[in-house]
Parts: sequence; structure tokens; C-alpha cells
Amino acid sequence: MKTRILPAHTQEECKLAVHAAAQLLREGQTVALPTETVYGLAADALNPAAVMRIFEAKERPRFDPLIVHLPGISWLEQITEIENEARELLNKLIAKFWPGPLTFVLPRKKIVPDLVTAGLRTVAVRMSAHPVFVKTIHEFGRPLAAPSANRFGRISPTTAEHVRDELDGRISLIVDAGATVHGIESTIVAIHPKRLELLRRGPITEEELAEFGEVAVLTDARVRSPGQFPSHYAPRTPLLLIKNADSFAPPREEKCGFLGWRSASNQFLEVRVLSSRGDLREAATNLFRHLRELDHAKLNLIVAEEVPDEGLGRAINDRLRRAANSDARDRPG
Ligand code: TXA
Ligand code: MG
Repeated sequence: MKTRILPAHTQEECKLAVHAAAQLLREGQTVALPTETVYGLAADALNPAAVMRIFEAKERPRFDPLIVHLPGISWLEQITEIENEARELLNKLIAKFWPGPLTFVLPRKKIVPDLVTAGLRTVAVRMSAHPVFVKTIHEFGRPLAAPSANRFGRISPTTAEHVRDELDGRISLIVDAGATVHGIESTIVAIHPKRLELLRRGPITEEELAEFGEVAVLTDARVRSPGQFPSHYAPRTPLLLIKNADSFAPPREEKCGFLGWRSASNQFLEVRVLSSRGDLREAATNLFRHLRELDHAKLNLIVAEEVPDEGLGRAINDRLRRAANSDARDRPG
């Protein structure tokens, strides 16, 4: 299959790209689209044959469920079963954070194919705020299943080129709207009456969520969020995570690269800095791009420095920890 890339930078380009994307989605094809977090690989969420193409392109195991993106809030009732006691909390969170990088896990209705939820009784839903995604899903008019547009277990793409690196020849279209804003995937929460369970850290922080009720952190619970493997976001190059590079000497015999938090270090062959001004938002935006560049630099080892473990920093450290977990390189994809 030939993978086309259509730019969506100007209004005119955007119109053409959105139109082409919606057409392919109607035909049951997969299309890579930008969201505010990372690029997603979208397909008609209510068409199992289309959803199957996502699993095939990504080599994603069937037990890992997908996020369903909604064209509008009215779809929430059609897709999910919301308990009355949870409704108040959910409405407050929606008012504050949607459209945006927050995904809710809620009991599902039958209309959602089993393949999408991997047989779970719940479904993950979100509404993206990215203008190109919004235009496409409006023109398509139905919910879109869209996981990150990378092969399973690998680093999520934040540009159209990253998507091409991952999925060239496996999908029909990539819509290119430049780099994504947040750079890491949406925060995932399960909603219970008066209580939230944080299943994946992301751009909306635990602190922000805590303003709405008690937050239980379950980001290591594999059963609850089956895709949250201890090893994920894996570069092909081994990655060593350290607290601080000040007193660290890279092994001499290795070709080492460095992913620093605020400052470079001249002891390494290739260096990337997440945010020289110490801004966690900037660090999140740069994280996957820098990791991918270091991974392409023919190194034997990437040494990465932790960022402060607060707010958005926790979401970044979480991804660095998973990237450092070496089993990932033994897994397929
Ligand atoms: O920002 C994002 O969320 C991006 C963009 C494209 O929207 N999408 C994304 O999808 O990161 P994906 O498939 O790479 O990650 C979805 C995560 C997986 O870890 C999956 O296991 C979890 O959501 N998930 C999906 N449905 C679930 C459910 N019913 N219960 C618990 N976890 C679920
Ligand atoms: Mg993913």
C-alpha cells in the first residue's frame, strides 16, 4: 500500500486533506491524524473490519483496547452507560477539560464493537481539540477509534514524519499539520461516583484532577489499563535512566547519547536537552522527538535524566521509566 502524506497547514490544504481523510474513513480505511497530544491512527470505531486494520497496521495485540474519539458530546450517551452517581463528577470534568487531552473510562454500551474494548465492559472516550482532527471527525460524522500512530510498544509520533517512520506502506494517508502541542498522550481516568482512578498520567495532572475529588493513582495496575505495560515507548537503543547527570560518567567503551533535563553534558556523542529553561510543558513537547532522534543516532546507549517528579514531570518520568525497561526490545514491533 502506498502511504500518501497530505499537508494541512493552510486553510485550502486543510479542506482537501480533511475531505480525503473523511472519504477514506467512510471506506473503512485507516488514516493518521494529528491530535493535540500525539498523532493518532484513526478508523471508524463502529466498524469492526475498519478497527481490525488499526490492529494490523500497528501489530497491536487484540487485548489492548482503543480510545474512541467522539465527534460531539451527544455521542457520549450513545457509547457509554453513565451511572447517575458518577454523572455530576463527569459533567464537571467535561466542562473543564473537554475538548482536550483527558480520556474517560466508562461502562460501555453494546454499540461499541468488542474489538475496540478488547472485550472489556468499559470503553475509553475522549474529544480532541485539534482543529484538523475536529474538522475530520465532523465531516465523517461518527466516532473514531484512534490509538497513537506508532507500531506497538514504540515511541508515540508527534510529527507526520514520525508516523511515516512507523507506518509507511501500512496505511493509506497521513495528514500533516506539523508538530503536536502537548507531545505526550492524554491523561486517562476511570470515573466512579465521587472518585477518580488515574490510569495513565498525561497533560492533565493529578493536581488538576484532585480539585474535583479524590484521585486514586493506579498507573501501574496492568489489569485496569491493559495497555500500560511496564515497558513501552521503547527506543531500539537501550536506555538508562539516572537521577542526575552531574556526577555521572558514561561508560567509555559505549557510544553514549544523553537526554538531559535542563543542561547538556559534553561527555556524550549526541545530546538533547528537554528544556533549558526548566519548563515541564516544553519538556513534554520535546520528549518523544528527542528520544526518536537519539534512537536514530546509531548509539549503544541513551542515558536519560529524570525530570522533577511533580505535576507534568510525573507523566514524563513515567514514560522515561517505561522506555528504560529493556524487555520492550524483545517484544514484537
Ligand atoms: O492522547 C491520546 O490518548 C492518543 C491520541 C491519538 O488520542 N491516543 C492514545 O491511544 O494514546 P493508545 O491506544 O496509544 O493508548 C490508549 C490507552 C492504552 O494504554 C489502553 O490500554 C488504554 O488506553 N485503554 C483503552 N481502553 C481502556 C479501557 N476500557 N480501560 C482501561 N484502559 C483502556
Ligand atoms: Mg500508544
